[in-house]
Amino acid sequence: MKAKQTMIQFLFIAICLFSHSSALKIGETCSKDSDCDTGLRCETCAANGNTRPRCTRIQPIIPTSEVKNLPFNNYSWLTTHNSYARAGAKSATGSYLVTPMNQEDTVASQLNNGVRGLMLDMYDFLNDIWLCHSTGGKCYNFTAFQPAINVLKEIQTFLEANPSEIVTIFIEDYVTSSQGLSKVFNSAGLNKYLFPVSRMPKNGGDWPTVDDMVQKNQRLVAFTSKKNKESEGFAHEWDYVVENQYGNGGMNSSSCPHRAESSPLSTTSRSLVLQNYFPDNPNATKVCADNSAPLESMTKTCYEAAGNRWPNFIAVDYYQKSDGGGAPEAVDQANGHLTCGCDNIAYCKENATYGTCDVPPISPPPPAAEGTSTTSPSTPSLASLDSRPAQLQWLCGLILASALSFWL
Ligand SMILES: *[C@@H]1O[C@H](CO)[C@@H](O)[C@H](O)[C@H]1NC(C)=O
Ligand SMILES: *[C@@H]1O[C@H](CO)[C@@H](O)[C@H](O)[C@H]1NC(C)=O
Ligand SMILES: *[C@@H]1O[C@H](CO)[C@@H](O)[C@H](O)[C@H]1NC(C)=O
Ligand SMILES: *[C@@H]1O[C@H](CO)[C@@H](O)[C@H](O)[C@H]1NC(C)=O
Ligand SMILES: *[C@@H]1O[C@H](CO)[C@@H](O)[C@H](O)[C@H]1NC(C)=O
Repeated sequence: MKAKQTMIQFLFIAICLFSHSSALKIGETCSKDSDCDTGLRCETCAANGNTRPRCTRIQPIIPTSEVKNLPFNNYSWLTTHNSYARAGAKSATGSYLVTPMNQEDTVASQLNNGVRGLMLDMYDFLNDIWLCHSTGGKCYNFTAFQPAINVLKEIQTFLEANPSEIVTIFIEDYVTSSQGLSKVFNSAGLNKYLFPVSRMPKNGGDWPTVDDMVQKNQRLVAFTSKKNKESEGFAHEWDYVVENQYGNGGMNSSSCPHRAESSPLSTTSRSLVLQNYFPDNPNATKVCADNSAPLESMTKTCYEAAGNRWPNFIAVDYYQKSDGGGAPEAVDQANGHLTCGCDNIAYCKENATYGTCDVPPISPPPPAAEGTSTTSPSTPSLASLDSRPAQLQWLCGLILASALSFWL
C-alpha cells in the first residue's frame, strides 16, 4: 500500500519536474517580477498580513478580444485615477513635487498593461497645458507634473500601434485658454481619433459597437468636466456618464452615493457608469488591500445603486497593487456580467447564448501567508483563471510537500 503510494508520488514528481517552466504562474512564490509570467508581477500585500511574495495579476483580459463587437457601453475598462501622477516623478519644471501620487508607472506602460480609461487633470500653466495635481484650479511648479502633450503623445503612439484598441480620457478640466484643449490634442496628433460628440447617445441607449468605432478610427473617447467645450469636440462628461462619490465617501460598501457633479447612479439617460474606488489620500501600502475584496464588494453595491448596471469604468489608485486579482479581476468580473452574463469574462463561451458559462473547476489558490491559511483571497476563481498550469504546479507542490513529510 505504502509502496504504491510512493510510486504514485514519484510519478507526480517526475511530471512536475518535466512540466515546470521557467516563468511562474499566478499565486506561485516568487522573489522578483521577472520570475513571473507576462502580465504578472511579484507582490506581497503586507497590509493584509501576507508574508509570501507571489505572482500577482496586473493586467485585465482585453474584453473585446474575448467577446467581440458589442456596443461600447457593454464593456468595462480598467481606469487609472490621476493616471499621470506617478510616484517618484519629478516635476518637468525642475521643482520637487509636493502633491499626492496615485500610480507607479507611465501612461504608456499603463496602456500596455490593458488600462483603457485615463483620468487627467489639465491646467493652463507656463503658456501651455500641463498635467497638474493642484488645488483651487491653479497649478504651481511643485504640483505640476509635465506638459500634457507628452502624455497625449504616448496615447497617440499607443492608438497608432494598436489599431483595434479604444481609449477613454476623463479630463478634470481647468483650462480656460481659448481652444486650449483642442490645440494640445491636435499637436499630439489625437484629433483624428476623437469619437465625435454628435455620435454619443443623448438619452441613454447603446453606443455604437466597438467594431464600428474601430472601422471609423474613432477610438478616442474624451470627456471633460467643463460644460462648454462640445464645439471643441469634447463631450461634457455629466451628460453621458454617472459616477459614484470619489475618495473616502465612495469606499463604504453599505451605500454607493453619486458624486455631486453627476446625476444619481440610477439615471439611465446616461449610458456609462464609472465607479471610483480610492481614498482621499492615496496610500501605497494599504491600496493592495483596498483593490481586492473591498473593491469587489463595493462594485456589487454600486451595481445595485446604478439600477443593476455593472461599471463601464473602474478607477483606482496603484492599479497594479492587489491581494490576488485586484482591479484587473474586478474588471474581468464586470465584463463577464456585461458581455455574456457570466461571473467573469474568462467564463464566456464563444458564440454562446447570454448566460451560458464555462466555469473551470474551482481549485483554491495557495494561501497568501507562509505556513498559514488564514488570509483567504478575494475570489477562489482567481488562480484557475488563465492558468491551468498553475493549478498543476500547485498540486505538484502539495504532493511534493506531502511526499517530503512522508519520507522525513
Ligand atoms: C448591453 O448592455 C445593455 C445595458 O446594460 C443591456 O440591456 C444589453 O442586453 C447588453 N447587450 C448585450 C449584447 O450584451
Ligand atoms: C517654475 O518653473 C519654471 C520652469 O522651470 C521656471 O521658469 C520658474 O522660475 C519657476 N517658478 C518658480 C516660482 O520657481
Ligand atoms: C459605513 O456606512 C454605514 C451606514 O451609513 C455606517 O454606519 C458605517 O459606520 C460606515 N462605515 C465606515 C467604515 O465608515
Ligand atoms: C497607509 O496605510 C497603512 C496601513 O493601513 C497605515 O499604517 C498608514 O498610516 C497609512 N499611511 C498614511 C499616510 O495614511
Ligand atoms: C463564432 O462566430 C464567428 C462569426 O460567425 C465564427 O467565425 C466563428 O468560427 C464562431 N466560433 C465558434 C467556436 O463557433
